[in-house]
Amino acid sequence: MSDRSPTDSTPVLEFRNVDTHYGTVQILHDVSITIAPGELVCLLGGNASGKTTTLRTILGMVEPTAGAVLIDGQDMQGLTTAQRVAQGVSMVPENRRLFKRMSVRENLEIGAYLRKDDEKEADLEHIFTMFPRVKERLNQTSGTLSGGEQQMVAVGRALMSRPRVLLMDEPSMGLAPILVAQNFAIIEQINAAGTAVFVVEQNASMALSIADRGYVLQSGRIVLSDTAEALKADPRMREAYLGEIPDA
Ligand SMILES: Nc1ncnc2c1ncn2[C@@H]1O[C@H](COP(=O)(O)OP(=O)(O)OP(=O)(O)O)[C@@H](O)[C@H]1O
Ligand SMILES: [Mg+2]
Repeated sequence: MSDRSPTDSTPVLEFRNVDTHYGTVQILHDVSITIAPGELVCLLGGNASGKTTTLRTILGMVEPTAGAVLIDGQDMQGLTTAQRVAQGVSMVPENRRLFKRMSVRENLEIGAYLRKDDEKEADLEHIFTMFPRVKERLNQTSGTLSGGEQQMVAVGRALMSRPRVLLMDEPSMGLAPILVAQNFAIIEQINAAGTAVFVVEQNASMALSIADRGYVLQSGRIVLSDTAEALKADPRMREAYLGEIPDA
């Protein structure tokens, strides 16, 4: 759990009955999600179920057409992505999205661009402790790194803004199984140090092996939500993935 005592009952992130459209097409339907400080929560769902759209809605890359997104109890309506990052969220995007022609160091420094304090070097050292390989590659062009190394840099970059909730979009995607396992071990470690994590995944068994709780999206609607233990045992998980839960 985190050490933020005064507002510990306030969710660090909340979706209240959110609808999101792209143009006239409705993608999210009445989605409600809460994440308490220090929690590790996963959002599961098959292809095109709306997982990335949920993260884009948190960051204000698309505004909800109904409902509200709150960070630390504060309504984010009208705030830019940068303002939301300053409020305490940051994302490791799908496929990592590094600035491939820039060095590893430059990518990490971009993650801290909103910060004015002088503790960036200390945070870099912390990231090097977590990922010694990143330190070895510091001056290398990011595009020349392996997929696993790029994932480490992307996680490091997101941590450089000191998020209270870290958003991760499909951390298992495109990585060999051994790297997926390492990646999830790192997510657990970040969470154990007090940062809430919201991990979006198609790989349900992997995500549920580390999460406290999970939500399942089907065609933009939450059709199941429960503790990770209960979801692992729920036969409806399969139907949810296949888009077969009726009236969802
Ligand atoms: N910018 C956009 N404009 C219009 N439609 C979009 C846009 N981005 C996504 N969509 C549509 O929204 C739906 C949900 O997409 P989203 O990317 O949120 O799903 P996802 O669960 O992340 O899928 P995946 O597992 O493929 O990453 C899809 O039908 C997709 O085609
Ligand atoms: Mg996606």
